[in-house]
Amino acid sequence: MGDFILNCMNIQIIIKKNMINYKSMYKLKNYLLSMQSHWMINQPTYQAVQDTLPLIAKYKAGNGQEDLPKTPVHKVVKKIYPEIYKVPLFRRHFCNLLVKEIEMMKKEISFVGNEEEDELRQIPEIVLKEQVPELYRNMWFVVQSVLNPMFNALWQRDCKDPTTIQIANYNLVDKKQGAWHHDDSAEISVVVPLNTGSYKGGGTAFHNYGEIGPLPTGHALMFPSFINLHKGLPVESGDRYLLVFWLCDKERTVDLYHTLP
Ligand SMILES: [Fe+2]
Repeated sequence: MGDFILNCMNIQIIIKKNMINYKSMYKLKNYLLSMQSHWMINQPTYQAVQDTLPLIAKYKAGNGQEDLPKTPVHKVVKKIYPEIYKVPLFRRHFCNLLVKEIEMMKKEISFVGNEEEDELRQIPEIVLKEQVPELYRNMWFVVQSVLNPMFNALWQRDCKDPTTIQIANYNLVDKKQGAWHHDDSAEISVVVPLNTGSYKGGGTAFHNYGEIGPLPTGHALMFPSFINLHKGLPVESGDRYLLVFWLCDKERTVDLYHTLP
């Protein structure tokens, strides 16, 4: 009898969980945003990645016996500080459509802070995998086919698995700025502003180097976030929307796990 009651309670909990998930999931209204293609990628960047792929393949086939030469990716990527880069990633049109979609998202699902993080680090966010799976699938595709080849060109290693991909919102009411931190769950982070010019303030500070103002809409800030202490800078007015990728290499993480004592 006790087991029966326990099972009923478990079923109730599962149903409740599913209901919450269902209610918090958003279906994209704009078909273009859910279409799995490269239309949203900045064209010169996309071409540079395509032209770099054979060089990466040759380098990998060489088993570390040959150098990887400077690649076409190096021409579109600009170094801001040591190991901290920027690159035009998304077309402005895509960012504009996404911001319009975010305004609709906000009516159905809300930006919330992650309670598992300490309070100073909680940024109001929409987690794509759980809340906007169609967009997550597309952004996963961008990670595999555009970002990861760029990481291979810059750092000669894969970083192709999203720990999480989110839309973050910095504003005066919900979250003005971040606190100094490392992204412990990521090796490389990619931050893309979606609406530069629609807000005042904002940007990113790097503890060892200095501050970077908001990049143009659609341009990506890419950096090894596990080792570079950083924080978001204060927003003075408006909503600063960011698309943020936290990325790692699961294969390597699994290998490390198996070496645990
Ligand atoms: Fe961060």
